[in-house]
Amino acid sequence: MKKSILRSKLIKIFIKHKLSKKHSKICADYLIKAELVGAKSHGLTRLKMYCQRIQKKLINPKPKIKIRKISSSITHIDADNSIGFVSADVGISKAIKNAKQTGIGLVGIKRSGHFGLSSFYAEQAVKKKLIVFCFTNAPPALAPYGAKKSLFGTNPICFGVPTGKIPFILDASTSIINRGKIRHANKLGEKIPYGVALDKSGKITINPKKALQGTQLPIAGFKGSGLAWMVDILSGVLTGSSHGGKTKDPFDDFSGPQNVGHLFITIDPKVFVGKNFMKEIKRNINIVKRLPKAKGFSSILYPGERKNSLYKKNLKKDISIPQKILKEMDELNVI
Ligand SMILES: NC(=O)c1ccc[n+]([C@@H]2O[C@H](COP(=O)([O-])OP(=O)(O)OC[C@H]3O[C@@H](n4cnc5c(N)ncnc54)[C@H](O)[C@@H]3O)[C@@H](O)[C@H]2O)c1
Repeated sequence: MKKSILRSKLIKIFIKHKLSKKHSKICADYLIKAELVGAKSHGLTRLKMYCQRIQKKLINPKPKIKIRKISSSITHIDADNSIGFVSADVGISKAIKNAKQTGIGLVGIKRSGHFGLSSFYAEQAVKKKLIVFCFTNAPPALAPYGAKKSLFGTNPICFGVPTGKIPFILDASTSIINRGKIRHANKLGEKIPYGVALDKSGKITINPKKALQGTQLPIAGFKGSGLAWMVDILSGVLTGSSHGGKTKDPFDDFSGPQNVGHLFITIDPKVFVGKNFMKEIKRNINIVKRLPKAKGFSSILYPGERKNSLYKKNLKKDISIPQKILKEMDELNVI
């Protein structure tokens, strides 16, 4: 489907679900961006879920987002159960403004929802020549190291830095693969890779349905479990949001709003070394890229490069949408 047609359709669907035109555009643009960077797990496949949660009054389509200035660097936001895209969009703008004013920005957001890819927000800060960290917690998917039961989310860690060229954006779940990929495989009747999830009885499974009932495996064993825990503390405990396994699953748990927490940290890279930063970051990347290549590699990519080239390539093409999702979109358009 042509991007312009898809964008109008999505805006219409969100407006039908009582979002303002401004918020509908924000949501449509982030969903399309996910498709364009090849993250189908965070794109149109989630549209029905967001709309269902609005219909069930678990996402507030007309949030009164409260922005509390704590200092010139620090802001605390109560998102009033807004759709995550909107609260995170407000939050990253504040974090950018704070860092531009003082050298560092810290924004905590509570009572939010699933915000898609962390890189959406990191890219905005990097475009404004800032270093950025984005954290968000997510519903239970990972068993803490030594536990039998899922409790941490796939809690991604995102770090961005301007390079003068393609932004360096490391954006990775603390699980081996993100949960969205398992949900998407389940929806389309596909298998998941071997070794990323266990079923209810603790056996490795490639069946996405069984994986969703079981637990996902963290990156690097206890280290990944520790990192997921760190993200839960930063985005949950610190911001005053849900934590310790209380973040509600947007697909399966309709007992209340998700109460997701996000934390954004923005840093002006000039704070210590002035303009030298840009010179040194370029030098740093060149040193790595010029290393002799391992067997099977023709180049060494830095995080963000692959998605950037995919984005540029996909921008020239229409977006392919599976029949099942097209049907969901049509149904959501007529309510
Ligand atoms: N909102 C939520 O609750 C939530 C939860 C989990 C994940 N997510 C999102 O899901 C997305 C995907 O997560 P993921 O863990 O599946 O990501 P991934 O495994 O696709 O990529 C992880 C990182 O590795 C980098 N990378 C990939 N291939 C590379 C290569 N060949 N060389 C160098 N670097 C490379 C990527 O640029 C990326 O920064 C992220 O954007 C994350 O924010 C969101």
